[in-house]
Amino acid sequence: METMTNAITIEKSKTSKIHDVDFENLSFGSTYTDHMLVCDYVDGAWQTPKIIPYQPITLEPSAKIFHYGQSIFEGMKAYKDEAGKAWLFRPLENHKRLNKSAERLAIPELPESFFIEGLTTLLQLEKDWIPETPGSSLYIRPFILASGTGFHASPADAYKFIIACAPSGSYFSGKVRVLIEEKYSRSANGGVGYAKAGGNYAGQFYPTQLAIEKGYNQVIWTDDNNHEYIEEAGAMNIFARINDTLITGPTSDRILDGITRKSILEIAKDEGIDTEVRNITVNEVVQAAKDGTLKEMFGAGTAAVISPIAGFGYKGVDYDLPELSESYATRLKKRITDIQYNRAEDKFGWRYEV
Ligand code: PLP
Ligand code: COI
Repeated sequence: METMTNAITIEKSKTSKIHDVDFENLSFGSTYTDHMLVCDYVDGAWQTPKIIPYQPITLEPSAKIFHYGQSIFEGMKAYKDEAGKAWLFRPLENHKRLNKSAERLAIPELPESFFIEGLTTLLQLEKDWIPETPGSSLYIRPFILASGTGFHASPADAYKFIIACAPSGSYFSGKVRVLIEEKYSRSANGGVGYAKAGGNYAGQFYPTQLAIEKGYNQVIWTDDNNHEYIEEAGAMNIFARINDTLITGPTSDRILDGITRKSILEIAKDEGIDTEVRNITVNEVVQAAKDGTLKEMFGAGTAAVISPIAGFGYKGVDYDLPELSESYATRLKKRITDIQYNRAEDKFGWRYEV
């Protein structure tokens, strides 16, 4: 693995857009900070990253990203505490997953120091952009795309690793209604589902549009074989509480190994909540919704945090979930966000000061 031989260079923006931003009313991921990090892979090596003003990038029409979709990304957040300190949550896990995705998409792996030093140098420069408004954070999007050219269907010989940041509010506004998918599939055994590959998301847009037209916010993906098991949502892993047991499906070739998911499992165990990691059948969830033992369902992810599911549709029938005064979703969300925003002890060692 390469190590960084030169220091990261910083070209500062001459002006700042920060005063144009309404930090009290942030949407998700649509306003970008003043700077970005760019690191090129050329001649068989990752070059020293540069921080430059946020700007368009130039690519040739023959760049392989446009034709063969060689692109991967990560989703992270920076949180500001009351004393003004900035924190990341388990950033080494994002780096590991980026390289897992890279391997699957035949993209050269990025050394850890490029990721962590690049990220922290950029965030130190953009610290003022981390919102202080409760529930808001700086969403961070590290990604790699194939900039190398050629119509030959083979891996590119050049790539760009970029980090861009967006001060953001909630991903969903309010509770989420989901449609359990019966026809389309997000991923398959032996496929790319476990990677954060751009194409995984493009493939979800059409079925999700159909679900939105029917009045749902998200699709819950089921296994591609028989659509028998609940797998995950478009941007979240899924948890179901049946009676008092919190259940989530095992990660596999088809399911993203969510950092929020694994953190929630550890926190739930620490809270004394009975947890199970096992396949959840659609029939079991439908039956539990009918007999009232399905107490709650929620999605978990960096962007979505913990998003309670208000109800779901399946085979033309709608099922509502009860409103609980003491839900696991609320309890677990408080525990994880207290760690992320440095409001509570971090017994797991997950917080990472920028
Ligand atoms: N599943 C999918 C398909 C996702 O895109 C995400 C978001 O990153 C997740 C699950 C949750 O993963 P994490 O908690 O690491 O953000
Ligand atoms: C995230 O939660 O960070 C993600 O990457 C999901 C994204 C599709 C918004």
